[in-house]
Amino acid sequence: MIRVAAAGDLHVAPDSAPALGEQLAAVGDKADVLLIAGDLTKSGRVEEATALAGELRGLSLPVVAVLGNHDHHGDRPNEIAEVLRDVGVWVLEGDTVRIDTPGGSVGVAGVKGFGGGFAGASGAEFGEPEMKAFIRHTKERSEALEAALHGLDADVRIALMHYAPVRETLQGEPLEIFPFLGSYLLAEAVDRAGADLVIHGHAHRGSEHGVTPGGVNVRNVAQTVIRRAYSVYGFEQPGSGRGTATIGAATDGRGIAPTRPPADR
Ligand SMILES: [Fe+2]
Ligand SMILES: [Fe+2]
Repeated sequence: MIRVAAAGDLHVAPDSAPALGEQLAAVGDKADVLLIAGDLTKSGRVEEATALAGELRGLSLPVVAVLGNHDHHGDRPNEIAEVLRDVGVWVLEGDTVRIDTPGGSVGVAGVKGFGGGFAGASGAEFGEPEMKAFIRHTKERSEALEAALHGLDADVRIALMHYAPVRETLQGEPLEIFPFLGSYLLAEAVDRAGADLVIHGHAHRGSEHGVTPGGVNVRNVAQTVIRRAYSVYGFEQPGSGRGTATIGAATDGRGIAPTRPPADR
């Protein structure tokens, strides 16, 4: 059994970091690896990342993360990533990590991703330079994810991102903002390269469960969606296919999620 804990949209600030540390204190007993699906910080300040790093430093399991849009807001994403890497967190952007656990190996390919919308209702690389740049960024991050997944050899292969690859996990969000919440190009990349599970965040008012057109399970682990500090997904027979099951709804931090999720994702 491989146990993967996952959470997104921690939005940590110095004053909220200790509470998060308490919620994560036992995660090493319940999972083999912890994935964080972006929006680690509240507003992309380095001191917020430092506060988070202080809480992650003592965890007894490997931690793998991607950055989210909030982590870019202060225009210092590289410094934020470095602060986390300094305490042993794997911060991925178009690259991979493979972790050996007692139940088998877990490989993670990570990108932030970006928006653009979904098949039949998506933006195109056409018109103004700003619009072309928007969609080009999504294409580039999707291509980076696909290349990373192609090079990933492990018993369980996971695509970790911040933005959503499918509409299903956005259910609950206003339809008008779907193009800012994710892109179908990310799902196409996953389906071409193959994966056992996709983990994302960003859609604070979305839904937990989805699936790509190619049949890969998708989970939105934004804390306001899962309503606990993290979810744990188990793989009974690593490498046997795409099936996953929630084996333990970690109760730590249950109820910590605000009843009204923040409007900015
Ligand atoms: Fe976000
Ligand atoms: Fe967020």
